[in-house]
Amino acid sequence: MRPVPDQLIPTFVFDDRVELARVLADEVEQLVARPAGLVLGLATGSTPIDTYREFARRHRDSKLSFARVTTFNLDEFVGLHADHAQSFRRWTRENLFAHVDFDATRTHFPDVDARDLAAASRAYEDAIRAAGGIDLQILGIGRNGHIGFNEPGSARDSRTRAVELHPWTREDAAAAFGALELVPQRAVTMGVATILAARRLRVIALGVKKAGIVRETLRARQDSSLPSTWLRDHGDVRLYLDREAASAL
Ligand code: PGA
Repeated sequence: MRPVPDQLIPTFVFDDRVELARVLADEVEQLVARPAGLVLGLATGSTPIDTYREFARRHRDSKLSFARVTTFNLDEFVGLHADHAQSFRRWTRENLFAHVDFDATRTHFPDVDARDLAAASRAYEDAIRAAGGIDLQILGIGRNGHIGFNEPGSARDSRTRAVELHPWTREDAAAAFGALELVPQRAVTMGVATILAARRLRVIALGVKKAGIVRETLRARQDSSLPSTWLRDHGDVRLYLDREAASAL
C-alpha cells in the first residue's frame, strides 16, 4: 500500500487487489467487533468483489461473524425481478450473503418494486436513519463520475430516489445484460447527500478504464456534472486504487 501524497482525497495505491481487499476487510473487522455493531453500506459489481471474498474467507477460516451487521445496498435497477441474473439483490445474495452469516432481517435494498418509488425511497432514508446511519460505505466510481447511480447532474443534496440511467452506465452494463435494449432505463439509488452522510467512505477504483475519472475526481472543479468530486468534501474518505486506476495521477 503506497500513499499518493497531497491529494484532495487521501489516496492509496495497491500492487495487488487482494491486498486492497485485506486492508478494507481489516477495517470492517475492527468495526464489527465494536459493541455498537456496524451499519455497512454495500456496493455491487467487480469493484468490491475481492473485498466480499475476503469477508467470506474470514468468516470461513477465522469464524468472523457478520450476524450483527446491518447492511444497506447503494442502488438497484428498476424493472428487474429480485431473482433476475443482473439484479443487485441477486448479485449480493450470491456473492456475499450466501458465504457469510448476515442476518436477513438486517439486510436492506432500495425498494424498486413499490408503486410509489418516491415514498419507498423516503422509507429507505428513514430505515438508514433508524439504524443509526451508515458507519462505513463501500463505494465505486463510474467512468462518468457517478457514485451509486447518481449520474452527472445529480445534486449534492440529493437523497434516495428514482433516477434515469446515463448512456455510459447502460453501455457499461450492456455486455452483462446481453444487449443494450435489455438494460433498464431507471434505477433507485441512495443520493449524493445520503452517501456523504456515511461516517466513513471507502472508495475503490480498479483498472485503466477508471484512470481518467480518478484523476478528474481528485482534480476537476467540484460540480454536479461529476458527482464523484463531491467526495472531496467528506471528512473521512479514502480512495483505494490499483496501479492501473492510478496511472493518470
Ligand atoms: P464498476 O464501477 O461497475 O466498474 O464496478 C463502479 C460503478 O460504476 O459505480
